[in-house]
Amino acid sequence: MDFRSLGNTCVVGLQWGDEGKGKIVDVMVEHYDVVVRYSGGPNAGHTVVVKGDKFALHQLPSGILHPRVRNMITGGTVLDPAVLLGEIESLRQRGVVISGENLRISDRAHLLFPYHRQQDMLAERAALPGSKIGTTARGVGPCYADKVSRRWGVRVCELYAPERFRRRLGEIIAHKNAYLAALYDVREPIDASATTEEYLTFAEQMRSFVCDTTIELSQAIAERRQLLFEGAQGSLLDIDHGTYPFVTSASSGAGGVASGAGIPPTSLKSVVGVIKAYTTRVGEGPFPTELRDHVGERIRESGREYGTTTGRPRRCGWFDAVAAGYAARLTGPTHLAVMHLDTLSGFEQVQVCVAYRAGGRALNTFPADTYSLMEAEPVYETLPGWKESLGACRRFDELPRAARNFVETLGRLLSAPVTMISVGPDREQTIFVDKGR
Ligand code: IMP
Ligand code: MG
Repeated sequence: MDFRSLGNTCVVGLQWGDEGKGKIVDVMVEHYDVVVRYSGGPNAGHTVVVKGDKFALHQLPSGILHPRVRNMITGGTVLDPAVLLGEIESLRQRGVVISGENLRISDRAHLLFPYHRQQDMLAERAALPGSKIGTTARGVGPCYADKVSRRWGVRVCELYAPERFRRRLGEIIAHKNAYLAALYDVREPIDASATTEEYLTFAEQMRSFVCDTTIELSQAIAERRQLLFEGAQGSLLDIDHGTYPFVTSASSGAGGVASGAGIPPTSLKSVVGVIKAYTTRVGEGPFPTELRDHVGERIRESGREYGTTTGRPRRCGWFDAVAAGYAARLTGPTHLAVMHLDTLSGFEQVQVCVAYRAGGRALNTFPADTYSLMEAEPVYETLPGWKESLGACRRFDELPRAARNFVETLGRLLSAPVTMISVGPDREQTIFVDKGR
């Protein structure tokens, strides 16, 4: 596959996250010069396996394992400095070199504070059954809420004006303490000065990374460097277009790239839509094809479907072409990557949801009303399964016929060409599908 011809590319999940974007970025990254995180924060969990060695990344872009590649965390993201610095430290201990050369952090990114995590947890705990979101409890939602409020948000650049930062954070923490005490009866107030000093120490540790990433990005574009924009979460978790309110709090879809990274929308040339051969979801929310039986369990076990960030078992079900097709409509993938094809080995038959029924009637589109989606029953197309394990396949024509047929069905349903197929967690376990096959 000629990756250089893709130009600036974004990699976006077309489901509810955990499609395998981290692996695809890792496979593609050697052909790119810059990897950019444009939305989300430490709620993301990207698993990259290199030569059997597993790396779980939350704040850092997946290009960090490649010494040549520049990694950027841009203004649309939220940054938990403790998580970031912890991740940097643990990667350094494993021999990964991280410096101001290969890691750049936007001075416009919003800072996540311990009170955000506390708010996230307490709000979930207080929510009535049916109203819980099932967040990763990393504080990401409250941090974005503070950003949008314009009153309580604090950006990275503010760390470098310490006097102003002390004053502002003092005010904000006084407000947070009052809020947490009134609403949740929290008795132990947050120590404003300890938090402030802790963050000022983080500021020094991060100083060499922090810059105006929009300048560096526009330079990179002018120099015709090839950029890879790495999505976090999935299109169906997008704050505007996902299954609201069971979504994350940022623009996780392809539309978020230009605004989150701060690049002209026209500078993006290719869009890789990443889909898993089945569907998973962590947290609450509608999931029409969910399998609450031994089939779902079997997918979970053989696909190792446990959350990277929280360790929660992921809910599993058949591929939902209505949901992913809706996401594809918003995303316009020029390429599709089908992940975890190996996980479906051994089923007599595999199913693909091609429509929904609700209240005895066909539901032809993916509904805005999340609660009607909760009632939707999947209508399946049944395809023959395959027995062979696929982990050793390296070419499309080495796949069993039924597996090829399954992949082609997904491409047809989503109206985009499947150009990459993953048959195992390792970098090597990837099939590139040639054009004109
Ligand atoms: P939050 O982003 O932590 O507020 O979580 C909101 C919803 O998005 C919950 O259902 C989470 O499980 C889900 N979510 C957040 N980040 C990820 C991710 O990286 N992968 C999959 N689901 C996620
Ligand atoms: Mg993940």
